[in-house]
Amino acid sequence: MAEKLVHLIITRQDSPDSTPYKEEFKIPYRPNMNVIGALMEIQRNPLTAQGQKTAPVNWESNCLEEVCGACSMVINGRPRQACSALIDKLEQPIRLEPMSTFPVQRDLSVDRSRMFDALKRVKAWIPIDGTHDLGPGPRMPEVDRQWAYELSKCMTCGVCLEACPNVNAKSEFIGPFAISQVRLFNEHPTGKMNRHERLEALMEDGGIGDCGNSQNCVQACPKGIPLTTSIAHMNKETTKHAVKKFFFS
Ligand code: FES
Repeated sequence: MAEKLVHLIITRQDSPDSTPYKEEFKIPYRPNMNVIGALMEIQRNPLTAQGQKTAPVNWESNCLEEVCGACSMVINGRPRQACSALIDKLEQPIRLEPMSTFPVQRDLSVDRSRMFDALKRVKAWIPIDGTHDLGPGPRMPEVDRQWAYELSKCMTCGVCLEACPNVNAKSEFIGPFAISQVRLFNEHPTGKMNRHERLEALMEDGGIGDCGNSQNCVQACPKGIPLTTSIAHMNKETTKHAVKKFFFS
């Protein structure tokens, strides 16, 4: 009986400035294989479908359980995580491409620095003095904790940016994920201390004003984060902040 194979067409790019090209691979099928497993098989035996030796495909991954977001790529036209993409559930040939919103480093690895820069811009953290034990943090009411937990699932994967028509190489838009993180940290009992700084950052160029309300982000988010609810909430908060500033400063 002929061996069952998995057929992949991978968009490759040798360096950040070189021209992308496609290469086909046919690898042995294994039950319960995911896309990372297929890439590892190519790494083990880097032969194209035509039997020519090639360089192993480069990609990024870490947790292998859809928590770190590192393995995001476009799989059969949809941005998602390669570690949770099961071969059995994908139509073949399986097309793998790097996300187009980010600069390609090599093959399927992209540089997501713009996301981490956006988190720095909006101060998406809670500044506390780490030099001594401050004891347990303030308690949050259960009802708040529940929605805050949903927002905290963001893994900076880049899928919402890839889905958003307002994020591209020419735009400075920080993206839906960063706006949602402002909501998370501004509502935190300790994070509230710096809420005005975060609101100011959201009101700058590339901030919340650049959202075009396409609502693609909320549909694309692999973690089901209510991104559009966060954007609507932060729109209200920035408007309130601007009005207060106008009258009281
Ligand atoms: S490897 Fe972490 S999300 Fe896929």
